[in-house]
Amino acid sequence: MPNPYQDRVVIITGGTSGIGKALMVQLLKLQAKVALCGRDSKKIESLRTEYPSPDLFTFQADVAVESDCKAFVEATMNRFGKIDILINNAGISMRALFIETDLNVLRQSMDVNFWGAVYMCKFALPHIMIQKGSIAGISSIAGYKGLPCRTGYSSSKFALQGFLESLRIELLHSGVNVLWISPGFVASNIRNTALNAQGKAQLETPLDESKLMSAEACAEGILDAIANRKRSLIMTLQGKMTVWMNKFFPGMVDRKVYAHFAAEPDSPLNPKPL
Ligand SMILES: NC(=O)c1ccc[n+]([C@@H]2O[C@H](COP(=O)([O-])OP(=O)(O)OC[C@H]3O[C@@H](n4cnc5c(N)ncnc54)[C@H](OP(=O)(O)O)[C@@H]3O)[C@@H](O)[C@H]2O)c1
Repeated sequence: MPNPYQDRVVIITGGTSGIGKALMVQLLKLQAKVALCGRDSKKIESLRTEYPSPDLFTFQADVAVESDCKAFVEATMNRFGKIDILINNAGISMRALFIETDLNVLRQSMDVNFWGAVYMCKFALPHIMIQKGSIAGISSIAGYKGLPCRTGYSSSKFALQGFLESLRIELLHSGVNVLWISPGFVASNIRNTALNAQGKAQLETPLDESKLMSAEACAEGILDAIANRKRSLIMTLQGKMTVWMNKFFPGMVDRKVYAHFAAEPDSPLNPKPL
């Protein structure tokens, strides 16, 4: 079977850690050319030292900033001369009760997870249309089911999926495939950087990360879905069950989701003892 990624130019937003980094490693092995961004220059620098490949282009950009996205796309075009695939992966999460949460936490979630993808699509789409390539968004089960203490995160992933579905249909006869992929829980840095009620990184994870799907396995599933030009992909059985059951028994799923998140260590759903 021919290698679908050979010489393809792939943009990954948020490629310095977790799923984005795993995507980059696999794509380089598949002889793709990868352009990735992140905000933290130190993380980008150490990535360059770890992977000194001429097929890797790194760029410091905050996807929440429109002009950064424009500059990132332009720099990728200058470096590689075309764009085949855009993977909107950069994301942040949160963990706090809405009533206690600073509204900037919700704004920041939307700015990164939703607007970041919108800006990147806006600037990359004309180039991807020439290649009849693909646009992917890394969503979440939180994009199908509102999750407690994740109001900003769920809102941003619902918005992301709505945007991508609209775009998908607009582009149905253009040769460009648009898809979204919803991983379950994946071992990464996302819970450490998740914002608390005050908008600060919580710097801990309530989950045993060693028991979660690896970022490498998740990246493999994502690349398979893009190569097969799928419409969408829900990656875990728990995720598939949640989405399916929610269509028919949403009230029951509300209660199950509450119980699941209330059982997390230090869950904001449980009142703190005085
Ligand atoms: N891990 C999970 O359980 C899980 C489940 C479902 C969906 N997802 C989704 O998967 C995607 C990747 O998350 P991950 O789990 O791999 O998390 P991660 O390890 O925290 O990686 C997030 C990446 O995004 C970058 N990033 C964050 N904000 C950014 C911004 N404003 N501009 C540019 N880059 C930014 C980070 O780099 P800098 O900090 O240097 O900017 C980092 O490279 C996210 O969209 C997340 O919602 C994750």
